[in-house]
Amino acid sequence: MPVLQATEEAIGQAAQALAKGEIVAFPTETVYGLGANALDGAAVAKVFAAKDRPRFNPLIVHVPDLAAAEGYAVFDATARKLAKAFWPGPLSLVLPKRADCPIADLVTAGLDTIALRAPNHPVAQALLAAANMPIAAPSANRSGRVSPTRAAHVAAELDELPAVILDGGPCAMGLESTVVSVAGPEPILLRLGAVPREAIEAVLGARLPRAKADAAIASPGQLARHYAPNTRLRLDAADVRAGEALLAFGPHAPQGAQQSINLSPTSDLAEAATALFAALRELDACGASAIAVMPIPNHGLGEAINDRLQRAAKAR
Ligand code: TXA
Ligand code: MG
Repeated sequence: MPVLQATEEAIGQAAQALAKGEIVAFPTETVYGLGANALDGAAVAKVFAAKDRPRFNPLIVHVPDLAAAEGYAVFDATARKLAKAFWPGPLSLVLPKRADCPIADLVTAGLDTIALRAPNHPVAQALLAAANMPIAAPSANRSGRVSPTRAAHVAAELDELPAVILDGGPCAMGLESTVVSVAGPEPILLRLGAVPREAIEAVLGARLPRAKADAAIASPGQLARHYAPNTRLRLDAADVRAGEALLAFGPHAPQGAQQSINLSPTSDLAEAATALFAALRELDACGASAIAVMPIPNHGLGEAINDRLQRAAKAR
């Protein structure tokens, strides 16, 4: 099993594997990523293969900071403002690619834009420093499935294991990065995520509109079938029916579930976001007829949590 505690030595090993064109899994503050040298098309192809990911769905490139990012993309004043406000952190910016951008075409699925982010996690940053290359990394799950928030999820998820899985413990945020396009005339929210929409709007001083549902090309990852557990989800549940598991939220969880996990008994949305994907995995494995999900307020991180739950519910 290639799972290694993320010591300096293990991070060095992972960096060597990346340099040889192999793929490695590593923790970020959002979810675990499955990384490859973004300059090496053959290495990036292994990421698509391991995830069974459609080639039209581009990857996020991880960089240490804004200075590194400016080597690959064109930043206007708005893009720079967002990067300065949220990097390192869970915001991915979709930007026009520079004409001399050396990133492999497969990473960006042939688009003239590129998604970049500087992760706020000591292991991810140490890996970027040791490898000294941009790292293309989607979430380390099979395409369409629930993202991994622990190293053990990665090992359980993929048929073809990466050379190294760096174990940095559970991810602090638990939801993928928010993806904002700053490649067009106005910023557009492509994916809800770990930075709440309101926080971005506060920095922009303007409303951040969401991409239209039919803008699938602009954000190819926003397919309806995503985050899919095997068990059916029943959303907005006020009660528990026979044979159901319960994904609870808040202090008033109904009794009687086959198995029950409370995302946050105190109704704390950040705590709920952190726990969401691991809870879905655990309830999915308990053999219940369905997972009843209590309502979650639709503001702040709740908007991204509800987005994931709706996709998971639609997925079957
Ligand atoms: O938190 C995260 O973002 C994690 C960690 C590992 O950093 N990564 C992640 O990657 O969630 P992935 O591949 O699962 O999601 C990337 C999203 C997809 O929805 C993809 O379509 C979108 O970003 N994306 C990437 N490049 C794009 C581009 N040039 N234009 C529009 N959307 C893009
Ligand atoms: Mg993903």
